[in-house]
Amino acid sequence: MTTSTDPADRPATGASPATPAASATSATPAARTVLAPPATSAPPATPAVPAAPTGPASSGRPGTSQQPPAGPPPARHPHGPARPPRSAAGSPAAFAPTGPSAPVPPGTRTVLAHRGASALAPENTLAAYRLAADHGARWVELDVDVISDGTIIVIHDSRLDRTTNRTGPYYGLTAADLPTIDAGSWFHAPAASTATGRTAAGQAPPAPVPLTPVPASPSPFAGEPLPTLAQALELLGARGVGVNVELKSCQAGATACRWLVDGVAELLDAHARAFPGCEVLVSSFNPVLLDRMGARRPLTRRALLVERGLLLDDWRSYAEILGVEAVNPADAGLERGRVEEIRSLGYGVNVWTVNSRRRAEELFEWGVTGVFTDRVHELGDLERGAC
Ligand code: G3P
Ligand code: CA
Repeated sequence: MTTSTDPADRPATGASPATPAASATSATPAARTVLAPPATSAPPATPAVPAAPTGPASSGRPGTSQQPPAGPPPARHPHGPARPPRSAAGSPAAFAPTGPSAPVPPGTRTVLAHRGASALAPENTLAAYRLAADHGARWVELDVDVISDGTIIVIHDSRLDRTTNRTGPYYGLTAADLPTIDAGSWFHAPAASTATGRTAAGQAPPAPVPLTPVPASPSPFAGEPLPTLAQALELLGARGVGVNVELKSCQAGATACRWLVDGVAELLDAHARAFPGCEVLVSSFNPVLLDRMGARRPLTRRALLVERGLLLDDWRSYAEILGVEAVNPADAGLERGRVEEIRSLGYGVNVWTVNSRRRAEELFEWGVTGVFTDRVHELGDLERGAC
């Protein structure tokens, strides 16, 4: 697997690549040096270039005359020796597991608010992140992709249809379009009776639904904006909440993918400067994006997401090549033996998406180190240790 280090591949932000100066020093993730102060002092900027297809032979960015930024190429992340040392070759040690650079300690139990407090508020909105923090969440997970001016937005799907008042893909949008998008009206708050069986005031459950139809009331989240990652990081940083940034497997081609990773990296540089105590984990189903993030920002803690049914016997090869600290599998089909195998090598295992308290407890008993849940208001107290 190779990753381009050509500065021309980066969005024309004018920022130099970060060169983190500190390293992860503790086996306890909560106590790790989170993210080193970046070398660049330039603020994140947004390139004004449409994400048009480049075609198979093009490597440039059509429609721009901007020059690539000056500065050294990004640092490479260590992938270990290309060949085994002579002493190891021909012996069982040749392919001995390398493990993560910072093993996730036994007993770690992290509860990540999946897309925010997404059972209570529209997913991946600032309202959902605020509510997660209000309910004591220590970590929030969110999904990011890039639009045509390089702005990093927070949204799960590759289209606007399900979670906004607009339709179609978002790759043609610019930041100027975002205030016109309503990402809250689709969501109607659950009944006053919460999942704990009590009303908000601890009173009797609400009366049965009346026979006479009642006009639908507007969502209390109407007008909730489609957030940028910058806005989300600002909110979560100010609340002291850790962030798991999931890089969506961008569908707009190579240039967009580069802008996505490099744009996120710049925002995380700024986040680390503004909130040096805040923890960050970057994950993706797409190993190419994770690899580029590792090259661009070597000390970024990263996790490999694995689709249902695809946590196969080759998982260690992916983990070692990518240098991730955790494997994040789907709950469906997950087996205890696989969890124990992954944990025995020190990698974290963060399972998605777990909304049953009983199942979360079972997974933690297996040794799982984190669960993603839509119901952080119910499962948050299961947390112990650090992510
Ligand atoms: O990161 C865990 C989980 O969010 C992955 O699946 O589809 O909800 O992004 P998805
Ligand atoms: Ca996600």
